[in-house]
Amino acid sequence: MDKELEQARKRIAELSAELEEHNHRYYVLAEPVISDRQFDLLLEELAGLEKQWPAFASPNSPTQRVGGDISKNFNTVTHRYPMLSLSNSYSREEVVEFVSRVEKEIGITTYAMELKYDGVAISLTYENGELVRGVTRGDGEKGDDITANVRTVRTIPLLLRGDPPESIEVRGEILFMRAQFERLNKERAEQGEDLYANPRNTAAGSLKQQDPKDVAKRGLDNFIYTLHGDHLPTRSHFENIQAAHRWGFKTPDVKRRFMERTDNVEGIMAFIAHWDVARHALEMDIDGIVIKVDDLDVQAELGMTAKSPRWAIAYKFQAEQASTRLNDVVYQVGRTGAITPVAELEPVLLAGTTVKRASLHNADQIEKLDLHIGDQVQVEKGGEIIPKIVGVDLEARPVDAAPVTFPLTCPECDTPLVRYEGEAQHYCPNEHACAPQIIGRIEHFVGRKMMAIEGLGGETVAELVQRGLIQNIAELYDLTKEKLLELGKGWGEKSATQVIDGIAASRSIPFEQVLFAIGIRHVGETVAKKIARAVVTMGRLQAMTKEELVTIDEVGEVIAQSILDFFAVEGNRDIVQRLRQCGVQMELDPASIQAVGDKLKGLTFVVSGVFRNFSRESIKASIEQNGGKTSGSISSKTSFVLAGADMGPAKRSKAEALKVQVIDEDAYMRMINE
Ligand code: IVH
Repeated sequence: MDKELEQARKRIAELSAELEEHNHRYYVLAEPVISDRQFDLLLEELAGLEKQWPAFASPNSPTQRVGGDISKNFNTVTHRYPMLSLSNSYSREEVVEFVSRVEKEIGITTYAMELKYDGVAISLTYENGELVRGVTRGDGEKGDDITANVRTVRTIPLLLRGDPPESIEVRGEILFMRAQFERLNKERAEQGEDLYANPRNTAAGSLKQQDPKDVAKRGLDNFIYTLHGDHLPTRSHFENIQAAHRWGFKTPDVKRRFMERTDNVEGIMAFIAHWDVARHALEMDIDGIVIKVDDLDVQAELGMTAKSPRWAIAYKFQAEQASTRLNDVVYQVGRTGAITPVAELEPVLLAGTTVKRASLHNADQIEKLDLHIGDQVQVEKGGEIIPKIVGVDLEARPVDAAPVTFPLTCPECDTPLVRYEGEAQHYCPNEHACAPQIIGRIEHFVGRKMMAIEGLGGETVAELVQRGLIQNIAELYDLTKEKLLELGKGWGEKSATQVIDGIAASRSIPFEQVLFAIGIRHVGETVAKKIARAVVTMGRLQAMTKEELVTIDEVGEVIAQSILDFFAVEGNRDIVQRLRQCGVQMELDPASIQAVGDKLKGLTFVVSGVFRNFSRESIKASIEQNGGKTSGSISSKTSFVLAGADMGPAKRSKAEALKVQVIDEDAYMRMINE
């Protein structure tokens, strides 16, 4: 037994080191030496061993890259060194003033120049080469401990290489590479979900997700920009960053001029001039450059003001603007009935692309700008993908220009619009007869993550609605091959068969996906899963009160109300009833419902921590339903400790001391379902 134990420990250590090495080669150096498949096989082997020998599973294991335990709340942590911000400058003169001030105080000195990444600041603490904490900036004094989420960022090393100091804090920026952000939005579009507006806010939002598995899927990236500690490798900021590169961090690429040194103002100006143009070709967003005194002792001499160091300055690029004519404002109706005004512009070149449209968000925005048709407007492309109108040239306004007035009725179906209290958006309430809403809902229903009906894209759905074949999602199930073929142009035996087969196959799509597909506002993929597990049947969900709904994990007041509103509409109840009659899944698959039986007979469990799919009480109930017993404290009679996130260290050591196996929620699910 001991030999087996020792072998497992050794293999786990070996695999961890090997996987971390491959991770570094792939993500930091972009020089992989094994295939993705080989990597996955090693990772699977490690995950298997960790399941079997949980005592050897390190929090910094490569398996944590895909997401560890859920955190209910993030603990607040006080920063050892406050996280300051940079003073900003917007003109080259201000940069010249900064250099003169530094030179006046301490004479000629070297400056490090680097990019100002447009993401979210993070502080990473390493003890004895291991990542122990990842904390957000917060208010600069205190931030949130988001370590489990940070572990999923592949370019952040979990174990340092080389000879780092015993204790070191590394700070940097977590961000999205543009390509990754676009990929994410493409997926959202395919799922019929709203697009993320800009990479920075999305990075911030991603890091605050409770489930690290969700964070892992987002594909965040990182660059580091300062080191803090009592024993730094050198007294040069620039050299220290290079040392961090040797420890395994992704650092600014010197060959690509991401970081440079100079001792004069001309050098700084050349760097600014280079990046003012070159930034458009970068693979990530930057919003300026940062100039720092390189010598840490000189930095200390210069000190800081209340909020920002006197040894550094940020030079922010002007967000690019262009002036053009507002030709018209059109109003789009979304799947939920939300009305979005869109400005139609005289095409103009802005930041390398031709802009023809700009978003106007809502009626307040139009009023604030006092927009008139024919106005000469200022458009800006900041972090956002869609440009926005930031100003109007009042002097250039034609005398007969008509003010833009928000419509009172729906541009598609003429129903009077409504505006709910506290919301900025107008809505068309005619959800069952307004064409774009009908089409949008059906498009959502057939999407890949919903009912996955192949052969039915946006245009096809629009055609079926416009030609009167379907009016709602339930009517999809009345379609026949003959009806499709009768449409003529564009429809053949093959395409019609594909659609009809796809619809037939959708009858076996699991209930949780059906719940997502029917399009209850605010019920997305994850929430639908949680609800499905909690309610088991659609009938139960329909009968629930608000008080009952809010007890479901992840369901708050807003979602609960939205579910009630959905079922309050007779048309929706009819549709659900018709789907049921058509054989669409309205219950959780018995295999995924927690088993009930005597699989756990004779076993005693101690439950500790926070669980993903259960409340503490419901997991205890589940143990009992399966014939097991639960107890409050660990003893030699305990068969298993069932550990969720945040299990106390005392409990863990007690379990270890008494050699009681600790299992996680997934292992428990397998125990009762297998
Ligand atoms: S140095 C006191 N370097 O900008 C200086 N910051 O306004 C500490 N940032 O919160 C930061 N790129 O999130 C530094 N190359 C860079 C940076 C950078 C982006 C962010 C950082 C910080 C904010 C300061």
